[in-house]
Amino acid sequence: MTVTAVVGLQWGDEAKGKFVDLLAKDADIVARFNGGDNAGHTVVNDYGTFKLRLTPNGLLNPKTTCVIGPGVVVNLDTLIKESVLFQNSGLDLTDRLWISPRCHIVMPYHPILEGIYEQAKGSSRTGTTKRGMGPVFADKVSYNGIRLYDLENEEVFAEKLRIQLAIKNPILKAFEIQELVFEQVFQEKLEQYRQLSHWVREPYGLIQDLLASNGDLLLEGAQGALLDNQWGTYPYCTASTTLSGGASAGLGLPPKSIENVVGIAKAYTTRVGAGPMPTEDSGEIGKILLEEGAEYGTVTHRPRRCGWLDAELVRFTCQINGVTELALTKLDVLDKLPILRIGIGYRHPDTPDQLHHYWQGDTRWLEACQPEYIEMEGWQQETKDIRSYEQLPQNAKAYIKKVEELTNTPIRYISVGPERDATIQVW
Ligand code: IMP
Repeated sequence: MTVTAVVGLQWGDEAKGKFVDLLAKDADIVARFNGGDNAGHTVVNDYGTFKLRLTPNGLLNPKTTCVIGPGVVVNLDTLIKESVLFQNSGLDLTDRLWISPRCHIVMPYHPILEGIYEQAKGSSRTGTTKRGMGPVFADKVSYNGIRLYDLENEEVFAEKLRIQLAIKNPILKAFEIQELVFEQVFQEKLEQYRQLSHWVREPYGLIQDLLASNGDLLLEGAQGALLDNQWGTYPYCTASTTLSGGASAGLGLPPKSIENVVGIAKAYTTRVGAGPMPTEDSGEIGKILLEEGAEYGTVTHRPRRCGWLDAELVRFTCQINGVTELALTKLDVLDKLPILRIGIGYRHPDTPDQLHHYWQGDTRWLEACQPEYIEMEGWQQETKDIRSYEQLPQNAKAYIKKVEELTNTPIRYISVGPERDATIQVW
């Protein structure tokens, strides 16, 4: 049995999709355990280019069964659109998709409420993906959520929806937003559920059987560790847990069953939305990384904030996730730069003689910190066609070694392009 989790080590968009797609070829089951359709994974393979938000990337491998675990919140509209996309590409999903009925559903009021919160916060807004994540997870933890189980029974669903509209509509009215009509929401969600209901079945037994029969299970994390609701840059974070430990509760897995954790980190840093990003470069370097790395959001198309690799952050996220092997992605984006910098810790104005760790303070404290850098020489040579570690330029190897040293984690994969084969396996 191998249970491998793939997790992002920065603020999302680390190219996890590519690695899940690569590793899924050996997996019997690929399962998602967190987030919702705020995720945006791009996969380029023989079936084409797919930008997926909710369905596990393993569906692109015709032999793999895919699971959406109870820790995921589902937007039925997105699920229907993605299932059509797969079917149009010749991929048969009939027996291959399992969606836990314990999943909470994104209801039409969730994105609207999120819009109200964001507007009220003004310049301190989170800069969300507008998929209603905060409100749907808030309803989940305050016992106000509606789950796929509830859609199985029209009376149960009707009662829950009536209660929720009685709570939510007065808020919409107070903000001069058109109220939601019970009958319209009720019929729309039931109709969407009917289209998906054959996939709604509890995957717990399937996963336990796989563990008992020594099968291969791949856990597909969404977002990145620094967006974790608890350990990320709160409140500039997402609504669920993004750490490998979340896979245990999000799927019903014994924690000790997760043997391998593949951490994905970009060779530099990006972030979408607001919040501290110590190594952000708003000058020339940031622009180069944005353009060379085509750093525009998969879901929102927003340009991402870019800057140097922050090894202090990646060291922390390797540690908290128990990363056993690192994948360093988009190394080719650094090809043209003569000098490279790597962040190794922070100086705070109140304690300038100390080099601090990320976990020593909160978001406001981090905003006041300045990163401390080391400098390395660039390689100024194209790497996109290189497929073996030995062929990499000396300075690229030195950069990789330095990242291993600073993060205290071995690098197993280096990605030099979006295609499946644009990958160097180091060991
Ligand atoms: P939400 O998850 O839509 O509530 O957004 C909260 C924060 O997480 C915002 O800063 C988003 O930009 C960020 N975020 C959410 N999902 C992703 C992702 O898949 N990649 C990168 N950032 C994300």
